[in-house]
Amino acid sequence: MIKAPRGTRDLLPPDTALWNFVEAAVRDVFRAYNFQEIRTPIFESTELFARGVGEETDIVAKEMFTWEDRGRAESDKGQSLTLRPENTAGVVRAYIEHKLWDRGLNKLFYIGPQFRRERPQKGRFRQFYQIGAEVIGPASAGSESPARDAEILELLATLLDRLGIAGWTLELNSIGTPEDRVKFNDALRQALEPVTAQMCSDCQRRAITNPLRVFDCKVPEDQPIIEKLPRISQFLGESSRAHFAEVQEILKTVGVPFTLNDRLVRGLDYYTRTAFEFTHGALGAQNAILGGGRYDGLSEALGGPAAPGIGFAIGEDRLVMSMTESADSVARKPDVYIAPLGAGMNREAARLARELRRHDLVVDLGDESFRLKKSFEAADKMGARYILIVGENEVKAGAFALKHLASGEQNTIARGELAHRILQP
Ligand code: HAM
Repeated sequence: MIKAPRGTRDLLPPDTALWNFVEAAVRDVFRAYNFQEIRTPIFESTELFARGVGEETDIVAKEMFTWEDRGRAESDKGQSLTLRPENTAGVVRAYIEHKLWDRGLNKLFYIGPQFRRERPQKGRFRQFYQIGAEVIGPASAGSESPARDAEILELLATLLDRLGIAGWTLELNSIGTPEDRVKFNDALRQALEPVTAQMCSDCQRRAITNPLRVFDCKVPEDQPIIEKLPRISQFLGESSRAHFAEVQEILKTVGVPFTLNDRLVRGLDYYTRTAFEFTHGALGAQNAILGGGRYDGLSEALGGPAAPGIGFAIGEDRLVMSMTESADSVARKPDVYIAPLGAGMNREAARLARELRRHDLVVDLGDESFRLKKSFEAADKMGARYILIVGENEVKAGAFALKHLASGEQNTIARGELAHRILQP
């Protein structure tokens, strides 16, 4: 038997109804905050992620699905391509490619699959889905303002509340400007020097190439050492501090609760200043429901103009897992099931179905070969509200037996009245 590859899965009905419910709610919220959708390719040149996300991150160093293109055209040959492990780099690539700075501040959102070769476990997949947003533009358009950070965070609180997800925690940190981080990295290198020999091989390498990434280490034996390392909060310059303080003030004013966590550095290299995660207790070990932050230097790192930005990505798989709503309660059931009875009645049923669907009713139908009992069973099973019987006599009379399945009440309704009657709750 051929199965879906490890770490991937099929989303089947009725669960897909829950996913659609989430995505519809999300689109509503994005509309209210004046965000517009962007769709970028699901594969990009490998270099984009190497330069954007960072060579020393777990994502780029270990988790990408990468291949060499073997297209016929000379220009394709040997190009290294990668399934996107995240979408911020792609959005910033598009920002540069299409000179989106001409539009001022861009408020963009996306919904789609991402790919990371991680060890699958609860809440962790190799193909997973993100709902994300990026706010990016020239500083003159206000992209650097702490008001943007606060708006993003308040949007997220609104979204989670709207979906009925209670019990989330917003963990907030500032990881400073690149200048702040030079000092922090120096301090980290110094602190690490006498202890790296006792650490895992990844940390030994990171200590030299990118000491901040030591905080991504999951090896239990390394944790006591990491716990004693200096904290970024001690190295923030005046401008980073003021920016971070203002973000917090706005959050307090609008009533979005948060906790400060100066160990939160995020696993991607592009972050500057504000960094955050929302966690949820019900998720277990993979408890980050979403993450994000500022990336003021990313556009320049990718060869574009200065374009401060901030964004987030929600793990949609984890979002759906933390919902209490059931798929059945959000799925729209058929309003009416049409039961054609006897030879030649499929045609009449098709005609009626067409008429009723024009009234925005959800209509399903059986087959003229079915006995009435079988039609009733089918209608019951799919949770239809009414069953409509279409036999030769009914067609001749222009009136049909309409039965309400829950109450058992049955009436004969003229063709022209059917839609109106079914539409009534
Ligand atoms: P990230 O923290 O790598 O950030 O991913 C964001 C969210 O995606 C995570 O919090 C988690 O919910 C979900 N996620 C990540 N990996 C998996 C997986 N293997 N299986 C299931 N869910 C997963 C980013 O991707 C950044 N691009 C976010 C961002 C946007 N920062 C600024 N703008």
